Amino acid sequence: MTTAVLTPGGSARATAERALKAAAGFWFATVVTGQALFLAYILAVYAPTSLSGNFAAWNENKMLIKGYVPGDTVGNLAFAAHVLMAAVVTFGGTLQFVPQIRARAPAVHRWIGRAFMTTAMAASVVGLWMTWGRPTDSGLPAAIAITLDAALILAFGGLAWRTAVARDFTAHRRWAMRTFMVANGVWFLRLGMATYGMAYLATGKVLPRPGDVFDVWSFGAYLVPLLVLELYLRAKAGGGPVMRASATGAVVLGALLMGVGIFGTWVGMFAPVLANVLAKL
Ligand code: HEM
Repeated sequence: MTTAVLTPGGSARATAERALKAAAGFWFATVVTGQALFLAYILAVYAPTSLSGNFAAWNENKMLIKGYVPGDTVGNLAFAAHVLMAAVVTFGGTLQFVPQIRARAPAVHRWIGRAFMTTAMAASVVGLWMTWGRPTDSGLPAAIAITLDAALILAFGGLAWRTAVARDFTAHRRWAMRTFMVANGVWFLRLGMATYGMAYLATGKVLPRPGDVFDVWSFGAYLVPLLVLELYLRAKAGGGPVMRASATGAVVLGALLMGVGIFGTWVGMFAPVLANVLAKL
């Protein structure tokens, strides 16, 4: 037993550390569940349609803004490349958090890391082109928000890579986690909108309409997770009891809201699209 837990202050500190660790575990379990469903959706809807060249089937997804456009070969191929890379980003990022892979198979961790960073950056560049060059018009505020997200993916991804090469693993972990948050901004965007949509219906539509909060959440979808991550990192690095309790609360609340969003996206978005597309194959 360490002296830390022999004193009343030390014991409270150890409890706060355990609570923060448990909160992070709960958050990660929620992420794994949600990302597995998002990955299943991406693969089931886009892998058979993109790889077989049946691009027209994408438009069975009525939530797409542009999707397949007859005659736009470059745009359609860009979309296919983007969604296939999205699958690697979704799967690869989550695997990087598994401590057993890092400890027992560091070479696997390095290769998944390279694949995740490269595809997240490439998907961002293709996404930027689709947003401004194709163009896929989601409205100016949302286009600016996703552009900033792409810039952060490129910047954080570059820093995570550089710190890994320099073998500065403390900094690498932080930049890799920040990259994970921004690379999953588009997923958090969907979860947040689904959660809000359910709250809107549950409160008898007294809240502002979901369409009215979309632009704000386009920024919040990656800025809020980044903020919670910073709080968590600071608390973990030796914050006081108030900071540890706040970080624990924010992580648990985030995980609970994500859980609601995971349910909402599956029931309201992914499952209906999946059923539509599969029926047309
Ligand atoms: C790196 C993580 C990303 C992932 C995992 C991802 C995932 C996806 C998925 C799954 C779709 C298909 C739409 C759907 O089925 O809901 C999509 C479409 C799209 N994404 Fe991304 N995306 C990422 C990053 C970006 C970025 C950074 C941008 C812009 C800078 C972007 C712009 C677009 C655009 C314009 C579409 C086409 C929407 C349409 O035609 O309706 N994406 N993305």
